[in-house]
Amino acid sequence: MNILIVNGVNLNLTGRREQSVYGARTLDEINNSLKTYAAARGHEVAFFTSNLEGELCTAIQEAEGKYDGIVLNAGAYSHYSYAIRDAIAAVTVPVVEVHMSNVHAREDFRKTSVLTAVCKGEILGFGEDSYRLALESFFA
Ligand code: DQA
Repeated sequence: MNILIVNGVNLNLTGRREQSVYGARTLDEINNSLKTYAAARGHEVAFFTSNLEGELCTAIQEAEGKYDGIVLNAGAYSHYSYAIRDAIAAVTVPVVEVHMSNVHAREDFRKTSVLTAVCKGEILGFGEDSYRLALESFFA
């Protein structure tokens, strides 16, 4: 399988921001581990990271026909981006929503995701392992 891992707003700061919430490893380190994990199982992963809502929509649109699935951590956009929600609904490529933190144990505004209903599923609360578990949902 060939899976696209999409990270949205502020995820580029992973390893530097709020380490008690998101851990001390950088996004590059996490992505490298995911690449190794996928390769060891005979699968491929590609990465797209952006702070811009429209670029995330374009990445989802362009994944159609090119990838077998998307692992998406849209960051704070998850809580209010109808544009990203519509992009997910517009494609047939399955999307698994990911959050590193347990958003339900945090501020109220994080308890709602406008994306979940159009995603195949959601994995949250396992730190960087959330990404690996999301990949596993495609590989299994
Ligand atoms: C996050 C949770 C969001 O609420 C937050 O805005 C993020 C990261 C997570 O991975 O836990 O930027 O998606």
